[in-house]
Amino acid sequence: MSTLKRKTPEELRSYRWFGAPVFRSLGHRARMAQQGYAREDYMGKPVIAIINTWSEINPCHTHFKDRAEWVKRGILQAGGFPIELPAMSLGEPYVRPAAMLYRNMLAMETEELLRSHPIDGAVLMGGCDKTTPGLILGAISMNIPAIYVPAGPSLRGDNKGKTLGSGTDLFTSWYKYKAGEFSELQLEEVENGISRSAGTCMTMGTASTMMSVADTLGFSLTGASSIVAPDSRHAIMAERTGRRIVDMVWEDLKPSDFLTASSFDNAITTALALGGSTNAVVHIIAMARRAGIPLSVDRFDQLSSEVPHLANIRPAGKYLMEDFYYAGGLRAMLKRLGSLIDTSQLTVSGKTLGENIADAEVYNDDVILPLDQPLGELGSLVILRGNLAPKSAVLKIHAADKALREHIGSAVVFENVEELQRLIDSPELQVDKDSVLVLKNAGPLGAPGFPEWGQIPIPKKLLEKGVKDMVRISDSRMSGTSFGTCILHVAPESFIGGPLALVRNGDLIELSVSKREVNLLISEQEMAQRQADWVAPKPYYPRGYGRMFAEHVTQADEGCDFDYLETIPGKDGLIPEPPIQ
Ligand code: FES
Repeated sequence: MSTLKRKTPEELRSYRWFGAPVFRSLGHRARMAQQGYAREDYMGKPVIAIINTWSEINPCHTHFKDRAEWVKRGILQAGGFPIELPAMSLGEPYVRPAAMLYRNMLAMETEELLRSHPIDGAVLMGGCDKTTPGLILGAISMNIPAIYVPAGPSLRGDNKGKTLGSGTDLFTSWYKYKAGEFSELQLEEVENGISRSAGTCMTMGTASTMMSVADTLGFSLTGASSIVAPDSRHAIMAERTGRRIVDMVWEDLKPSDFLTASSFDNAITTALALGGSTNAVVHIIAMARRAGIPLSVDRFDQLSSEVPHLANIRPAGKYLMEDFYYAGGLRAMLKRLGSLIDTSQLTVSGKTLGENIADAEVYNDDVILPLDQPLGELGSLVILRGNLAPKSAVLKIHAADKALREHIGSAVVFENVEELQRLIDSPELQVDKDSVLVLKNAGPLGAPGFPEWGQIPIPKKLLEKGVKDMVRISDSRMSGTSFGTCILHVAPESFIGGPLALVRNGDLIELSVSKREVNLLISEQEMAQRQADWVAPKPYYPRGYGRMFAEHVTQADEGCDFDYLETIPGKDGLIPEPPIQ
């Protein structure tokens, strides 16, 4: 158990609003009375914000409208006072140009909602891709007690007796449709059966990865991330979370008390053992930097060579998150990882990760594989460098064709996504199975917003010949539900003059996974000449949030946070509390 000293009611942050002997407190209390609350309802009690990312345009969070009531019940039962504060819902399927454009906005919203209101602790409700890192980033910076309720994965997709996985089966159905193997009706049947309950994508996409990462970091009641959304045990978890945050406030258990270099190693280890989304690289780095913990992309490659891929989940494996839950879930996988996990790390429960997984068991060895029988060889995420990616690029090799790991091919270049869409299926496109497809201007600034365009489609004429994978390279991201030899997150990006901007049709590009390199095979003189001739494009946004994003976002290898939101190690990045007035 935590040995943290308990707060007194007068030490509560909310007491600055409600209890201070000043006129303004009278005004605050009068407004509480306006809502029907007497002093004894909230005075001297932990006031808990439920930051809820529910909205009618986030299908993954449909249960949150209702689930927040369970959280409230837990808070009330433990002697706290709940206040639901809605935040932007960032429903991944609808937000354009990319939900990633707004991750930092949600992070700022979370931090500032908590800062500006009489809040002692926070329950963060998220799950759909960018909501998890957005909420956690804000909570790390605010650094008051905070606990995370993951939305949980949705049920397995189903169509005519066949199990469907989010994203993955949509991609394959679309390819079949394009290749003439699927009718409009068959496409519609998949459309109707693939997402059939509340909850996040149930393949090992970004949502499943990041919910598990947040859980391992210590932000959830350990194992919460694996509970499928419609399961009644998800409601029980939500209520327990509500109860726990009240004690966390009395104990003053904050993110800075449990985030360490080791807890971030645990988070990376989890992402790797899950065969998780490449997006985890960007989000985990951003979180660590907010916490003032230095973390480089290289740590992912180092741990990748030590951590076996145990979760046999699509797209790399066979099962879905629902199966993972029934097989024991994250707790069982962490237990199975043994000494690869630092079990001494503290969690929101006030106990260590080790204490929380002590009784965990694997119930299905085909879903959570034994340590000595992992899915493929060690190393599911590879960090590449080379003259095309001086700062770094990422490749998920388990989702890639082994035959393409050492490859030289001539570039087929698309200057932007519009050109890609216009030309990719053209019969005139000069392309063969050995070509390297290059997409420029798809990064944090170039797209803008760092969208998931990195799974560049295979040209129709090659699909028709049975080509299933090609080397593809971009400064974009890729959905965790995607697959293929897609080199992603190239940094610096082409929009700011990174070497990817200099590639021309017909140039030879070499990928060598064994050397961890991706290179443009032209002379240094030619490279320098092209760099000198390069003309910087105009920025997209003349005003508003987009302009702020463009002026302050960092590159992929640095987490794509805003430079002014990072905490600088050795300097206090904390903002003082507002004065009592
Ligand atoms: Fe919400 Fe995939 S679209 S988790």
